[in-house]
Amino acid sequence: MTRLTVNNQPIQYALSPETPLAVALRDASNLTGTKIACSNGECGACTVDIDGRAVRSCAVTIASVEGSFVTTIEGLARDRDHPVQQAFLAGNVSQCGYCIPGLVMAAAVLIREVRDPDEAAIRRAMSHHCRCGIQPRLVEAVRRAAAIERGDETVAPVASPDIDARDAAKDVPALAAPKRLPRS
Ligand code: FES
Repeated sequence: MTRLTVNNQPIQYALSPETPLAVALRDASNLTGTKIACSNGECGACTVDIDGRAVRSCAVTIASVEGSFVTTIEGLARDRDHPVQQAFLAGNVSQCGYCIPGLVMAAAVLIREVRDPDEAAIRRAMSHHCRCGIQPRLVEAVRRAAAIERGDETVAPVASPDIDARDAAKDVPALAAPKRLPRS
């Protein structure tokens, strides 16, 4: 058994001690907000907070972090209103969204440690691979998150879209039947 505290819950994993933490979180704890992309410690998609540090959870085994306190995106804030989450929403940072949980966790650790991070500090801490080209608005959002954390800025709450699937379906235009090309 490997014992950890995950999102303030004591957990015992009956998995091989060599299991990557990211796999244990997703497959045994159903905490699928932690994403896996490269599985190699390079892209940052799987970043979680371990004892106050931003750690790429695909690159550590559960045995190596036994006894640690782990926070995942699901445990970051009860109402999903952590300053980083507020700033990311207000700044429309997310594009495809896949690597966003890892970026949010890295930013949350950064602004806890550095009250007013400059661009260089943000880029160093957020050296994640994101192919969506969000970096300019990412830097701005992390600065804003730090300002919210310091109490220097507030953002209006952004409501989550409340879409009824039937309403959404109404707006989808019917596809025209494909035209047949004349045979040559
Ligand atoms: Fe862990 Fe890429 S999936 S760093």
